[in-house]
Amino acid sequence: MSQRVLTTESGAPVADNQNSASAGPGGPLLLQDQHLLEKLARFNRERIPERVVHARGSGAYGHFEVTDDVTGFTHADFLSGVGRRTEVFVRFSTVADSLGGADAVRDPRGFAVKFYTEQGNYDLVGNNTPVFFIKDPIKFPDFIHSQKRDPFTGRQEPDNVWDFWAHSPEATHQVTWLMGDRGIPASYRHMNGYGSHTYQWTNADGEAFFVKYHFKTDQGIRCLTSEQAAELAGTDPSSHQTDLLQAIERGVKPSWTMYVQVMPAAEAADYRFNPFDLTKVWPHRDHPLRRVGRLVLDRNPDNVFAEVEQAAFSPNNFVPGIGPSPDKMLQGRLFAYADAHRYRLGVNHTLLAVNAPRATVASNYGRDGLMAVNSQGRHAKNYEPNSYDGPVETGRPLAAPLPVTGHTGTHEAPLHTKDDDFVQAGELYRLMSAEERSRLVANIAGGLAQVTRDDVVRKNLAHFHAADPEYGRRVEEAVRALRED
Ligand code: HEM
Repeated sequence: MSQRVLTTESGAPVADNQNSASAGPGGPLLLQDQHLLEKLARFNRERIPERVVHARGSGAYGHFEVTDDVTGFTHADFLSGVGRRTEVFVRFSTVADSLGGADAVRDPRGFAVKFYTEQGNYDLVGNNTPVFFIKDPIKFPDFIHSQKRDPFTGRQEPDNVWDFWAHSPEATHQVTWLMGDRGIPASYRHMNGYGSHTYQWTNADGEAFFVKYHFKTDQGIRCLTSEQAAELAGTDPSSHQTDLLQAIERGVKPSWTMYVQVMPAAEAADYRFNPFDLTKVWPHRDHPLRRVGRLVLDRNPDNVFAEVEQAAFSPNNFVPGIGPSPDKMLQGRLFAYADAHRYRLGVNHTLLAVNAPRATVASNYGRDGLMAVNSQGRHAKNYEPNSYDGPVETGRPLAAPLPVTGHTGTHEAPLHTKDDDFVQAGELYRLMSAEERSRLVANIAGGLAQVTRDDVVRKNLAHFHAADPEYGRRVEEAVRALRED
């Protein structure tokens, strides 16, 4: 087989890839060396803006297979029958650090699934935690600023991290989760995923249900202690990437069983707490898990930049039978992601192979923009309505209409009698074994003891006391002991 010839980007053969063209052997370089100019210029443009959160991640392809009938709750086509298979791409991530950070850190993990369905791409952009730190999107930029590097010191600062939480009692549940054993998964394969938000499903009769998604790892949950993680982060900063890549290359097929909790829409108004509050779980005794199917990963991407870095997931990508709930955080996210993609990847990011529909074809009147490579057909009209055979609307909404009440304006989150910020944090603490509680207390105290302001420490302690008196007392004692050291 003859060897392929090295070419410039316009396809012309390259004569010399080791020596730049110069005026004589020792002379200055020639501007006419197209290959040199192209190489240097392209190299300067290799990096694009990293994701503002979840910058560091790993991805893989696979499929989702329906194992149980859920057609009573949704008419989503890809869930329409037992045995139905849909291709997926999944990206896992850490949240707070930049691309160059380490994988084995105490941080939530992203769990984003793109289902390439015959009705368009459905993105379920979740985390490995069933709850979140805040319940209103207006707080998200402040929250993330407090957790990422400080603009002056260039480091993550315990003062900022805990100051934000001191002012956000609603974070106590997720902080308890994060500081516990599950705060550092051993790998992406050994953690659960959650849609976290409440979403809406609509069935063929137009009946609406609220659902929460759970992906339970079939590999079993494995976590690292703070000490194990610190060592691993030093020896293999890419430990999660190494694990996922090598497992799939070895032929291991990591999988997760997907369940949903289902609440008939009419029950939401009278539920004992706000079912759209992202800082709360729905107790399983109220809404048991119903199995839906299995998510299997079996193929690594060919190119990490093209397929993982350029992957674009948006909670706004729904398919018929699935829609948003009134969860305020979710509503904020419906804007944030596609906006981030337009900035990070450009207006034509949905034309990239990893983001384009695979089981159907996008057909609309959107045109042009940077890097437009789709013609939509020679005589296709770029306006609608038209008298030709351009694509037409279906007239069928994705999900059932939901009633709304009240006045416009800013409102504090609705509080029900049993809907305070601490009940579920206390329940989570009391679920833990004695050893788990001790590690939780040590992890919190290790961070809180580094905070320089007493009022910030006091406010945080008050949250743990409110969650559970023993929890508060033990954290307080541990912080005092560390500060007296
Ligand atoms: C990534 C915004 C809450 C999960 C991102 C990105 C933005 C963002 C701008 C980067 C997107 C990109 O450049 O591709 C927000 C806002 C939130 C919020 C404004 C709250 C109002 C959440 C919550 C979850 C979550 C509650 C999980 C339940 C993720 C994941 C990614 C991500 C998994 C990475 C997706 C990927 O792998 O490409 N978020 N986020 N976010 N977010 Fe959020």
